[in-house]
Amino acid sequence: MSAAHLTGLNFRQDYFSDPAAWAALVSLLDDTFGIDIDPLRDLGGPDPTSMPFGWFTDEGVLAANLSAFAMPFVLNGRLINAAGLQSGAVRPPWRGRGLYRDVTQKALAWCEAQGFEAVILYTDKPALYEKYGFRPLPLHKYVGQAPIAMDHSGSRSLQPRDTEDLALLQGLLATRKPVSETLAVASSPAMFLINTLLDTDVRLSYLEEYKAAVAWKMPADGHFALLDVVAAEIPSFAAILAGLGILATTVETHFRPDRFQWSGKAVPYESGTRLMVRGPKGSLDHPAMLSPLADF
Ligand SMILES: CC(C)(COP(=O)(O)OP(=O)(O)OC[C@H]1O[C@@H](n2cnc3c(N)ncnc32)[C@H](O)[C@@H]1OP(=O)(O)O)[C@@H](O)C(=O)NCCC(=O)NCCS
Repeated sequence: MSAAHLTGLNFRQDYFSDPAAWAALVSLLDDTFGIDIDPLRDLGGPDPTSMPFGWFTDEGVLAANLSAFAMPFVLNGRLINAAGLQSGAVRPPWRGRGLYRDVTQKALAWCEAQGFEAVILYTDKPALYEKYGFRPLPLHKYVGQAPIAMDHSGSRSLQPRDTEDLALLQGLLATRKPVSETLAVASSPAMFLINTLLDTDVRLSYLEEYKAAVAWKMPADGHFALLDVVAAEIPSFAAILAGLGILATTVETHFRPDRFQWSGKAVPYESGTRLMVRGPKGSLDHPAMLSPLADF
């Protein structure tokens, strides 16, 4: 018996072009996770590669959803043609009836039909996905002494909601070099843009000299956290600090800093969620993590 027989809901996929269905997803994610993805409409729109799978009531309420999207990433020096899964949620009255199993199976079947060689996702419930062959990747950030300071070279703040800044960011995102050879997204502009808004502590600056957008935080006095760099050529860590005019004693990177002419110590990165991979080779040659700006 299909999930439709069990629940009386209507299945839809690929519904993002329907404004009412998009609003139903925004509502589901807000109610489930307290996350508002509606600003994506002002940031160039949802990822055009997205393929949402959802069960709707006759009144248009989205009861269950899981979305797949193209998420190419670099793993151990190789570009992987991967899909990501996100926005997985079932409203409480419809839980425990197999709806999530249904959308998971549909999404994975679609990923296979599209020829994706791997699928990745973040979850706080790994058990949901282990039965489909997903394995957790341990995540590490890098921590160490700040690089030796260079002369201040200048930068300006970027505001993704500003039309000109958005166009500049979209251009940089379209031609970016992955921040790391070990683990990094190759492309995922919509995620980067919405993540700059979801975490209000993230600062975004443009280094004109290097044509680089830098996402960063100062979690404590004298301690600088480099979250992501979007550029065709990656500047050194020292050049980034000089551009930002920041004098830090200690620094950390939320990715493996193999392209930054700086090295630190790998430290386990603890967060509420695990990164899980289903695909050909799921282990890392070096400790690493995906930038938080790639979170999905
Ligand atoms: C987790 C959630 C999506 C499950 O939805 P659901 O429709 O009740 O799940 P289903 O009835 O389809 O069950 C699917 C499978 O998941 C298992 N499962 C259900 N809830 C689970 C949980 N909290 N942890 C682990 N496994 C769970 C079921 O036992 C079932 O296993 P089976 O396929 O081997 O029989 C739903 O509870 C929810 O939206 N929770 C809040 C948001 C969330 O955690 N989303 C997932 C983010 S990655």
